[in-house]
Amino acid sequence: MTGYQSASLYKRHTPPAERVTALLSQMTLAEKIGQMTQVEKNSITPEAVAAYGIGSVLSGGGGNPTPNTPETWARMTRRYQEAALRSRLGIPLLYGTDAVHGHNNVVGATIFPHNAGLGATRDPELVERIGRITAVELLATHVHWNFAPCVAVPQDIRWGRAYEGFGEQTGLVAQMGAAAIRGLQEAGNGRRQAVLACAKHYVGDGGTVWGSAGQYEWIQDNWQRAGSQYQIDQGEMTGDETMLRAIHLPPYRAAIEAGVRSIMVSFSSWGGLKLHAHKYLLTDVLKGEMGFTGFLISDWMAIDQLDPDFYTCVVTAVNAGLDMIMVPFDYRRFISTLTQAVEKGDVSPTRIEDAARRILTVKQEMGLFEHPFGDESLLPQVGSQAHRQAAREAVRRSLVLLKNEGALPLSRQTPRLLVSGAAADDVGLQCGGWTIEWQGQSGPVTPGTTFLAGVRDMVAAETAVYYQPDGRFPAHLTADAGIVVLSEPPYAEGAGDRADLTLPASDIALIERVRSHCQQLIVILYSGRPLIITDCLPHCDAFIAAWLPGSEGQGISDVLFGDYPFSGKLPFTWPRSMNQIPACPPEDSPLFPYGYGLTTNEGGEAI
Ligand code: BGC
Ligand code: BGC
Repeated sequence: MTGYQSASLYKRHTPPAERVTALLSQMTLAEKIGQMTQVEKNSITPEAVAAYGIGSVLSGGGGNPTPNTPETWARMTRRYQEAALRSRLGIPLLYGTDAVHGHNNVVGATIFPHNAGLGATRDPELVERIGRITAVELLATHVHWNFAPCVAVPQDIRWGRAYEGFGEQTGLVAQMGAAAIRGLQEAGNGRRQAVLACAKHYVGDGGTVWGSAGQYEWIQDNWQRAGSQYQIDQGEMTGDETMLRAIHLPPYRAAIEAGVRSIMVSFSSWGGLKLHAHKYLLTDVLKGEMGFTGFLISDWMAIDQLDPDFYTCVVTAVNAGLDMIMVPFDYRRFISTLTQAVEKGDVSPTRIEDAARRILTVKQEMGLFEHPFGDESLLPQVGSQAHRQAAREAVRRSLVLLKNEGALPLSRQTPRLLVSGAAADDVGLQCGGWTIEWQGQSGPVTPGTTFLAGVRDMVAAETAVYYQPDGRFPAHLTADAGIVVLSEPPYAEGAGDRADLTLPASDIALIERVRSHCQQLIVILYSGRPLIITDCLPHCDAFIAAWLPGSEGQGISDVLFGDYPFSGKLPFTWPRSMNQIPACPPEDSPLFPYGYGLTTNEGGEAI
């Protein structure tokens, strides 16, 4: 009997808990530890997945096959699953990836606005729908596990992950996070199964303090060597337990209520202790008090940060409550170290049993034993028109109008329109980090519609659209309206930690150049967070915060020309100066408060 057939004995006619118990009773220590191991796809062959009975394989940011297409993704992940099914017990694996704004590593997938933009929509129903669409695109490529949603509550917008949060307020994050989980995990719609969501990063990742990010000389990793930028990401959360429980914990309660079955632990620390070592918060609070019965996954190489001695790292993390380890490279070393720890009595067999049981229970609940594969018949839906329509709608809803002195809506019949800024015609800048590559990239990284293409598509045949990325229009050229699109360069994680969020002088210069050619100037900003725009605001007649809208830039022109109203509300307080970051002093007022956003009627009238 092959392994898969023997495991299949346990999948019919028996209640799930009993099936897992029966399976566990057959498993060796090595097989249980195999389930607890998650490996990055370039670091393991399918053969080794079968030999070690590996529980999970992941693609990190940019962990793409070559060429990068939905079909090659499906082929890659299918090979790993087939290998897992060839292991002695044929336990299916969970293939995981970060589909944090759509299935964003895949060229051709639908790229939605990053969470900050979705927070601006204030619409959980929309977020749920996006979750469902993302699940379809993931399942088309056999990816069953999404490391999303990020339910951080960012308290300092200098943080390079601020845009991964839905906003600065706990209630908004909790509501939107729960909606995303429901969408991803909801089966139905003709689908056999759904995707496993992962709330991250437990807990307080959004509450760390500038300058507190640690450096770990013992970690030899490119990312750590480049890590000098890391200033606040992965740092220390200060504040007492009351604050922790009030601000950062509630989204996890909401996530558990929404049915989340995996939670990723944060790189950050609290009270000088890394969360990956924090038995109180992982085991006592989350699994005990909050009753979380799913499993905990560590973050990328995060256990290595706990101590220079890897044995200590493994023992500490597993005993603190981690169930699966995102190793992600040297899985043999992890497996042998954990095996040794059990043999020496430093990790109890009961802890291993509990971890394996949690992982297998979730796999059972998902129906993975019955349906270990996704569904390649969904491949035509990856990046489909219907999915892109939903993304375009999300873009429309996410735009926050900060200023409008008669400039908007624009008339389609405007005789001449000047457009400038490199970002106006750049899908990569529209998408930001976590798009095709971990850090994101400028340029035509994936199919999509740029803002400029959207404008060209929408204006009347008689309208002349002039595009000059650097705003150096011929001296004689004048127009009723000019549009400048500015953007932050793409970034992800600590690489985006930025001490000074002031708009660069070159952006101000661009605005001034275009200003001299037009009656009315509209500025659109692509950014993962508010930037300091106080000096530029007087130069423009309208200002739109567009966040990181993703692949469907037409959503912006839809609203600009008045087909749809502006309705987004600020998910973050908009500071007047750097002195108001991280928090605006009580005696001061921000440039725009949380929740601000001008509205226009259908048809575009300002109200
Ligand atoms: C990976 C990312 C990961 C990061 C961690 C990158 O090389 O591609 O997925 O989050 O390393 O630092
Ligand atoms: C990030 C996680 C991500 C993981 C895998 C880490 O560096 O912190 O958010 O899920 O990499 O890519």
